[in-house]
Amino acid sequence: LRVTVLVSGGGTNLQAIIDSVNNGTIKNTKLVGVISNNAGAYALERAKKADIPAFVISPKDYESREIFNDALLAKVKELDTDLVVLAGFLVRIPEKMVHEYSHRIINIHPSLIPSFCGVGYYGLKVHEAALAKGVKVSGATVHFVDEGMDTGEIIFQKAVEVKEDDTPETLQRRIMEEAEWKLLPAAINKIALNS
Ligand code: GRF
Repeated sequence: LRVTVLVSGGGTNLQAIIDSVNNGTIKNTKLVGVISNNAGAYALERAKKADIPAFVISPKDYESREIFNDALLAKVKELDTDLVVLAGFLVRIPEKMVHEYSHRIINIHPSLIPSFCGVGYYGLKVHEAALAKGVKVSGATVHFVDEGMDTGEIIFQKAVEVKEDDTPETLQRRIMEEAEWKLLPAAINKIALNS
């Protein structure tokens, strides 16, 4: 399975995928590219260290969002991608790409969807909302991407305990370690074995 990973930040989920391919947790898979909208994303360094072709494609480098959308889709196709993985990617996926890659784009979201998801719920904001609500359990969800935001068919979920003294940062870290970094490789492996 030829996998292209889209990133915007530190790339810890990308690193979990790289390590899982290298240690055999993910089978029958080749990471063919990493694309970031953010030239400063440390995820790009992780890609380079792993000898994965890395590209910066940012909306601000294009005259319009439509031209950016076409450039992103063109690069994904140029890499002969079978599966697109959104790993902390903070730019909306173009509708044309959702349709051309129907059931071939997956996303990791750091909550138990349908809680704390949708427009405005990204990064630490997800965990701030969970703590503000006083939930005793949160977690992560990996799902297929459809036309909505965090609305596609759910593939896997994993619950994570919320502790009394949690801050958004400590909760984020636990959800990444105990859920995100396990669910995303497991979902890629499941798709690779069914491909
Ligand atoms: C984190 O907030 C994570 O919960 C979410 O994307 C953000 C960046 O993660 N999935 P990463 O370290 O860039 O993978």
